[in-house]
Amino acid sequence: MPEQTSEERIEAPKGRILVVDDEADIRESLEDLLATEGYQIDTASNAAEGLRKLEHRGYDLVLLDLMMPDRSGMDVLADVRERDSETPIFLITAYGSIEVAVNALKAGANDYFSKPWDNEKLLIEIDRMIGKRRLEEENVQLKRALKQRYSFPNIIGKSDRMLRVLDLVTQVAPSRANILITGETGTGKELIAKAIHANSPRADQPFVAVNSGSLPLELLESTLFGHEKGSFTGAVARQRGYFEIANGGTIFFDEIGTISLDVQAKLLRVMQEKEFMPLGSGETVKVDVRILAATNSDLRKLVEEGKFREDLFYRINVINLSLPPLRDRKEDIPALVDYFFTKYCLENEKFLDSSRRSLLKFEPDAMSILMEHNWPGNVRELENVVERAVVLTTDPIVPVGVLPDFLLQASGMRIRRDSSGYLSPEASLFEVVADFERRKILEVLESANWSQTDAAESLHIPLSTLNQKIKRLNIEIRKKVDAKAERGA
Ligand SMILES: Nc1ncnc2c1ncn2[C@@H]1O[C@H](COP(=O)(O)OP(=O)(O)OP(=O)(O)O)[C@@H](O)[C@H]1O
Ligand SMILES: [Mg+2]
Repeated sequence: MPEQTSEERIEAPKGRILVVDDEADIRESLEDLLATEGYQIDTASNAAEGLRKLEHRGYDLVLLDLMMPDRSGMDVLADVRERDSETPIFLITAYGSIEVAVNALKAGANDYFSKPWDNEKLLIEIDRMIGKRRLEEENVQLKRALKQRYSFPNIIGKSDRMLRVLDLVTQVAPSRANILITGETGTGKELIAKAIHANSPRADQPFVAVNSGSLPLELLESTLFGHEKGSFTGAVARQRGYFEIANGGTIFFDEIGTISLDVQAKLLRVMQEKEFMPLGSGETVKVDVRILAATNSDLRKLVEEGKFREDLFYRINVINLSLPPLRDRKEDIPALVDYFFTKYCLENEKFLDSSRRSLLKFEPDAMSILMEHNWPGNVRELENVVERAVVLTTDPIVPVGVLPDFLLQASGMRIRRDSSGYLSPEASLFEVVADFERRKILEVLESANWSQTDAAESLHIPLSTLNQKIKRLNIEIRKKVDAKAERGA
């Protein structure tokens, strides 16, 4: 092995290894050996400490002593494997026998060394194991990226939380499991429901969305299950219900929490028996329909309040897909903005390049405002803001001024200050800049006797830009000077 220089040691470690052994000199000699090779080492002198460290620290490999006073390494191994099936574990023991080795491997160890071990061999195996793990991780990442690109072309999301949602969608889509999609308004529940259908074997069959909230109760029942001619006033002909129309495909109940207990009972029956009776008909109709549902209310609470059947809840909630609010995945905002730019430039036939992608970009200030906003209406709210910007902008660098007033004002208000009005130490760069701009503009306005025309001139910016900044930075115009009258005089 070549000598390591101290510079090489400072570079990113080759991997993080936890050594769990009760004998101090064993820990030390392993620590020396591995640190010299560029690994970052952590040690634990008993099983309890080892387990505690393993819980949080994300090691690349664990070296575990088989015989320790507090618990046997075999026990510890089982414990670790229960919590963490991935981190490679090498067992080390003084009592080497084939039998022990076989048991260790069966219990989930990745390799096995007996004391005194051969340093060279140990190092080679550690290196190989960590390298292999890294490759596997990269593969998972690559597969995720591919999936992202190919199966969900219209779902934008690179944040960890969205990638996890998409992983789950990929896993559950092919089954016929009923899925409950939860999330705040505008987080993409319907979009995900459609993606599940599109990635299922039912993709060629109908996808029927039922907006349970917007239909009057009496109509919901006949809309879902259909009716015979004359079954109620106004039923002039036999009509097929959504369940019949969706046969072979998927039915999506939006706002499932709003349906009446009556309809819930019928729904439960379709789910259990896969058949139902249209209104006014004595005959059952058999259907094969996958049921997806969405809600932004707390169904469990509705169950507690007796407004939602518990048995139906469990039927629907076989798998729960919970969509994170946009404020918890702000790293997705830039990609969403680009996606909506292209969507609305195509719709409006403007600012398109030769490959029909959008040429638009928000100016940095505008982008900062989008990144700082809390988005209570989630992706839908962002989409509306971008659509509006596409319609209003005349410049491919979209100026702050095309953002709606509520965003501009909110951004001015959100400069964090301490109790004496100074910028708080937590203020972001954006807030610091906004604060500076605000003070500069106030100063110039003051010395221009509050004439905005003059202030704009001495700031070398167009009057319209100054107006936008005044609005955005929440600057109160104190004394208004009639500039025109002033000039005319
Ligand atoms: N990850 C995403 N990528 C691209 N577009 C998205 C994404 N999430 C949501 N959208 C878009 O945002 C809008 C709102 O999404 P959707 O209607 O699915 O939300 P929702 O959760 O059903 O909202 P609500 O609870 O108000 O019914 C749609 O135009 C949808 O296409
Ligand atoms: Mg919806």
